[in-house]
Amino acid sequence: MANKKRILSGMQPSGPLHLGNYFGALKNWISLQDEYECFFFIADWHALTTLYEDPRKIKQFSYDVAVDWLSMGLDPEKCTLFVQSRIPEHAELHLILSMIVPVPWLERNPTYKEKQTEITNVDMSSYGFLGYPILQTADIILYKADFVPVGIDQAPHLELSREIVRRFNNLYNKRVFVEPDAKISEVPKLNGLDGRKMSKSYNNAIYLSDSEEEVRKKVQIMVTDPQRKRRNDPGEPDVCNLFPFHKIYSPAEMQAEVASTCRTAAIGCTDCKAKLVRNMTDGMRPALEKRKEIVSNPKRVMEILDEGSKKAHKVARETLREAKEAMQMADGFPS
Ligand code: TRP
Ligand code: SF4
Repeated sequence: MANKKRILSGMQPSGPLHLGNYFGALKNWISLQDEYECFFFIADWHALTTLYEDPRKIKQFSYDVAVDWLSMGLDPEKCTLFVQSRIPEHAELHLILSMIVPVPWLERNPTYKEKQTEITNVDMSSYGFLGYPILQTADIILYKADFVPVGIDQAPHLELSREIVRRFNNLYNKRVFVEPDAKISEVPKLNGLDGRKMSKSYNNAIYLSDSEEEVRKKVQIMVTDPQRKRRNDPGEPDVCNLFPFHKIYSPAEMQAEVASTCRTAAIGCTDCKAKLVRNMTDGMRPALEKRKEIVSNPKRVMEILDEGSKKAHKVARETLREAKEAMQMADGFPS
């Protein structure tokens, strides 16, 4: 117990979670709970970078995310679940780190450039958005996390976190912070209904909270092999948007059968979809059942985040004190 390595990761509350979020991150988190000491948090301050005009939404989304986490199997008995904004040390360390990070380190961050061109409905020219990876670094190093499970898109952020840690520890001559390692998981490629990346903003997602009926309707409109225009045209599962879902939800024999009968046009997309719907709804049912139980007791959800935040706060407070001691600023001024 005492020598378990520590894991930390966070998610922005930008809406209810979809299957892409689950297979891209959450499933991996759940599998790490036993082997590591885990801290998982809702990055509500980070969500302000895009939702600053509408911060009330962040509250609802945070609750939605917590319900998604618990329904899918993050277990508060095994890991610490908390809310970023409940721990002011994240903001305080962010400020301190921002004094030692050269602006060019931030400007060359690829996700900064990408998102600025990608997100056009909100003005993303804020100072806080430029400093996003500094806040993320504070999130991680306050807990001295050894590993940070993230998607490959976050790798540059983690690299920056390591640079910041080295800079801090060198400047103040003490190894206060630990260089975190990214733990990049293999992610099955699941696209949205229209074949683009699954995303809330494309309106093409299947949500963890979708009912069986909603899943059925969504699968029915899913684009398949675009070359397969008529029922008698043979198809190619490897270019079909639907087939990756079979790979997740259908037994191996059915996957093989679907693939070969698709290629000979022995099966049509309508039948193939019906098979998938059955397996998907079966696969999703246990979590939907658990969700009913979770949402019947919203107070308990709050309590879990409360307890987790208290636990996290203790750790963060202690680390920040060490950092300020290394800087000889622990006792304020005059002292
Ligand atoms: N930037 C992450 C994302 O968009 C969310 C995040 C914020 C995070 N702070 C973090 C992830 C700390 C890991 C560790 O997905
Ligand atoms: Fe895709 Fe199935 Fe249609 Fe083949 S039969 S193209 S795998 S939906």
